[in-house]
Amino acid sequence: MKKVLVTGGAGFIGSNYIHHALRVHPDWEIWNFDKLTYAGNLANLKDIDTDPRYHFVQGDIADATAVAEVMKNGIEIIINFAAESHVDRSIKGSQEFLVTGVLGVQTLLDAAKEHSIKLFYQISTDEVYGDVEVGQYSKETDMLHPSSPYSAAKAAGDLLVLAYARTHKVPVVLSRCTNNYGPYQYPEKMLPLFVTNLIQGKKVPVYGDGQQIRDWLHVDDHCRAIDLIIEKGNRGEIYNIGANHQPEWVNLQVTKLILDELKADESMIEHVTDRPGHDRRYAVDTAKISVLGWKPLVAPDEGLRQVVRWYKDHPEWWQPITSGDFKKYYESQYRSA
Ligand code: NAD
Ligand code: TYD
Repeated sequence: MKKVLVTGGAGFIGSNYIHHALRVHPDWEIWNFDKLTYAGNLANLKDIDTDPRYHFVQGDIADATAVAEVMKNGIEIIINFAAESHVDRSIKGSQEFLVTGVLGVQTLLDAAKEHSIKLFYQISTDEVYGDVEVGQYSKETDMLHPSSPYSAAKAAGDLLVLAYARTHKVPVVLSRCTNNYGPYQYPEKMLPLFVTNLIQGKKVPVYGDGQQIRDWLHVDDHCRAIDLIIEKGNRGEIYNIGANHQPEWVNLQVTKLILDELKADESMIEHVTDRPGHDRRYAVDTAKISVLGWKPLVAPDEGLRQVVRWYKDHPEWWQPITSGDFKKYYESQYRSA
């Protein structure tokens, strides 16, 4: 069995990745190491709770003692999804972002070095490049221009990973993916927030003019890209991952698609004050990962509509969160495990 540590596996992308990995890697045993912040939710994983190839350990990646303890399981690969991930929260207060994104990454890298692991995989974001002009695409070699404390913390983490690769010869890879959508995304992010608002009869708050561009990618396509990079990616290198939608989608178009799928009209849109420092457009050059043989498989329009339907069909997943009693809920349901 290959022993894999997935950090932040109780969040949106991490939990989707664990489902994916248990399905496609019968020779993997996975330790999910997660602090269970407000965004960590063991309900995302309850269907695999009893799988003998899956273990959950509650812990903080910035806690060296807890990390050392989980590493004793003979971990060979670390895939680091753990992060504070919401831009708006990072604007209100950024300390946790830096603690997890920098000290947490450093703690994991020290553990990787000490245990001479086979691979340290850092899950990063296209937001580290900052926004780019129409017609431009960020390349892996571009300068980093993060705009928010969230993306600045992610950029700092990326640089630390590269430094450990060069100085300590830790075998690393990094990938920088565009905005993901899919099941189990905390309903503070645009897509699940808008869907769950509409289902509850509330308006959707579109920041500013709604003309910002994001290159939405289905989380399953992200998971497949991660696997390919583990298998074929050059160690010490960075890979962009993105859907490359043409024509590009502005937020207002995504909003209208959500309204359409839920049979709501445009009177449910509320233009609200823009996010400070709001990046206008993200777009990445994906030539490098294409060479490895990756391309997105989920059709963009239908993929988004399917995910809207997933939230519509799973109120039992999001209602405990949106009704504010989520903490009590997961303590009684899952924390005793
Ligand atoms: P999320 O907020 O849904 O989940 C983050 C998870 O990390 C939670 O389970 C949380 O409990 C855990 N966590 C936070 N701090 C921790 C700590 N100190 N120790 C251990 N666990 C901790 O985030 P997400 O959207 O799933 O994003 C996962 C990763 O992917 C992040 O690194 C993010 O930067 C990156 N990313 C996200 C997107 C996106 O669109 N969501 C796009 C590109 C990259
Ligand atoms: P978000 O899901 O927070 O992801 P990110 O900021 O990491 O891209 O936001 C996606 C886009 O949607 C971004 O341009 C901000 C915008 N947005 C709104 O217009 N209203 C909202 O309530 C939220 C949360 C986001």
